[in-house]
Amino acid sequence: MVKSSTDKATGFEKCFEYINTVIFEDSDTASKAVAREVARLIREKQDNQQYCVLGLATGSSPKGLYAELVRLHREEGLSFANVISFNLDEYYPMEYDSINSYVRFMKELLFDHVDIQVQNCHIPDGTLSKQEISEYCSDYESKIEARGGIDLQILGIGGNGHIGFNESGSLQNSRTRLVALDYMTRVAASKDFLGLINTPRTAITLGVKKIMEAKQVILMAWGEKKSHVVKSTVEGEVSSKVPASYLQEHNQVTFVLDKEASSQLTRVQSPWLLENMVWTDKMIRKAVLGLALRLKKPILMLTDDDYIENGMSDLLAEEGTSYDINIKVFNKLQNTITVWPGGKPGSDDSK
Ligand code: GLP
Repeated sequence: MVKSSTDKATGFEKCFEYINTVIFEDSDTASKAVAREVARLIREKQDNQQYCVLGLATGSSPKGLYAELVRLHREEGLSFANVISFNLDEYYPMEYDSINSYVRFMKELLFDHVDIQVQNCHIPDGTLSKQEISEYCSDYESKIEARGGIDLQILGIGGNGHIGFNESGSLQNSRTRLVALDYMTRVAASKDFLGLINTPRTAITLGVKKIMEAKQVILMAWGEKKSHVVKSTVEGEVSSKVPASYLQEHNQVTFVLDKEASSQLTRVQSPWLLENMVWTDKMIRKAVLGLALRLKKPILMLTDDDYIENGMSDLLAEEGTSYDINIKVFNKLQNTITVWPGGKPGSDDSK
């Protein structure tokens, strides 16, 4: 299991999070931890003379993982001879050697640098005719089944909560298929295709069903731009609007985040809701300001009940009354204003 050195996650009181979520200092450290988990699994399978079936993702999120796996192969002798891989998706139509093809991506970042056997690498084929796709997709699933299913599925997450190219609206039992891409997904991809006009409108993706059938899933997300979708996936309701939220119903899933991607989680935004806080001045300021903003009230109008009803009764007990807390925070803010109307210089404005 992937563990973070900075994170309390594994033993964390999870009244808000419905997915096991681990936060790392940065994506580099996180990618290395995921690589160690992948390597552990590959070696465990080797020891038992078994194949290791990996579900692989593309996009920017797994790049650090692949770089570390290549390093582990070169420097620490990790062999991929027993690995069978199935990629999640591919744009359609797409030539194998096109600059944006996932075939090319996987070769350049992983396959060409390790000892995986070419015939064991599977990536949805973007060169098929439309008529061939449906049969091809059910064969793709049969091949996965013939190998006993995916042992470990690696995922990224789209800004709209897609996994693979299962866009908002995809059903939990959706199969591998040709899909139309969301406008948002196409905009995100358009920088690689030199403009929206050149960006494919369709793709072939592994369905949600096969992803959910994987024995273990690791989803990686980096950067602030993923923080909102991470929050709704981890803390929100399971909904087809955010297909990644289906993972709440998987029993062996870990979300691996860097600090920025975790920044909207309740445990980061409002840690006082989850554990006994040591209330520093900075934390008090953050909590009181957040409360005032949420309740749309001026700080000086916050009442004892506001504090109690919003999980801050321990602060109230420590500080006395809402009046005491309010004026303390208000003064702090007021004192940051150095000119009128920040207060008359030298006057006592603490009441
Ligand atoms: C792409 C891929 C997904 C990927 C996601 C996030 O469109 N099809 O499999 O996980 O979008 O991409 P990135 O990792 O670049 O943020």
